[in-house]
Amino acid sequence: MQAAFYEKTGAARSVLTVAAMPVQIPAAGEVRVKLATSGVNPSDVKMRGGLRGGDLPWPRIVPHSDGAGVIDAVGDGVPAGRIGERVWVWNACWGRPYGTAAEYVCLPSNQAVPLPADVSFAAGACFGIPALTAWHAVHMDGGCAGKEVLVTGAAGAVGHYAVQFAKAAGAHVIATVSTDDKAAIAGAAGADEIVFYRREDVADRVLALTDGAGVARVIEVDLAANLPAALGALRADGDIVAYGSGALDIQVPFLPSVLKNICYRFFIVYHLAPADRARAVAGLTRALEAGLLRHHLGPAFPLHDIVAAHEAVEAGAIGNVVVTLQD
Ligand SMILES: NC(=O)c1ccc[n+]([C@@H]2O[C@H](COP(=O)([O-])OP(=O)(O)OC[C@H]3O[C@@H](n4cnc5c(N)ncnc54)[C@H](OP(=O)(O)O)[C@@H]3O)[C@@H](O)[C@H]2O)c1
Repeated sequence: MQAAFYEKTGAARSVLTVAAMPVQIPAAGEVRVKLATSGVNPSDVKMRGGLRGGDLPWPRIVPHSDGAGVIDAVGDGVPAGRIGERVWVWNACWGRPYGTAAEYVCLPSNQAVPLPADVSFAAGACFGIPALTAWHAVHMDGGCAGKEVLVTGAAGAVGHYAVQFAKAAGAHVIATVSTDDKAAIAGAAGADEIVFYRREDVADRVLALTDGAGVARVIEVDLAANLPAALGALRADGDIVAYGSGALDIQVPFLPSVLKNICYRFFIVYHLAPADRARAVAGLTRALEAGLLRHHLGPAFPLHDIVAAHEAVEAGAIGNVVVTLQD
């Protein structure tokens, strides 16, 4: 099969190679997926770039955790009836060397989730990281039903799903964006109010939009940049659910945090507890089956252009960047 891989970290065009690799045989408990698409997330790009450390845990890494395709083989213990099933996958390249930037991937059967018939393989490449992150951010710790919620970066891959899940849960959603185009994306996802974070004072606008009360939850894409605004926008006993940060170290203003009883919640989708993941997968599946979700697809690239796909993510592409593996 054709696969993309790297054997050291560095710039995409220095370290990514596309070449033939053997097709794996699924081990006991595994399925093999003939992939149609592979989703490229900021995390994949950061890992390849060495942001999480230059030493590789394996000599060769086939990147990308997300993707979608059709099961074409199963290992011992997996019902043969799964062969032919359309699926999307999660954590394909987390704690494992071989992800979805390849024509086939083998992984544990529960990491291949049925993809409803009317959902495209391109959309299915957005679920493992963006959709599950958004679902968990909205529903964790009692969720957002009936609450005012601020979703920052609402036109991003995660933010766009977070707006939709929060609306579906019955929240009133205030969304931050940088441009008119992104305002249109967040509005189409269902955001009730739009704040242009680069030219408006976010905390002042949120307070004005909530009669001075503030929001109950901030779903935060960049905690390092936005922490003061988030603290200003939150009501007492509110929480900041931070899934992203533009800087690795953050100074937390103690006084406004303690005076408002603020709860800080950090999580990484790779490490969702099994019960939380099952809840998120079930919630996402219900939304897909009900046809409730808009997907936010960005540019698509064939596997041999994987360097361009990584560079598009680094350049801030709008929507999920997808690598296609079949015509
Ligand atoms: N913890 C987890 O499990 C988890 C899961 C998924 C993603 N992440 C992280 O979350 C971040 C976003 O991921 P993504 O896939 O959604 O990326 P994305 O599709 O590039 O979206 C990021 C969005 O945030 C906006 N943005 C950037 N800086 C901002 C700021 N300071 N304030 C408000 N908005 C800002 C961007 O647009 P503008 O720059 O035009 O505003 C863009 O629309 C990445 O750092 C990623 O690594 C973490």
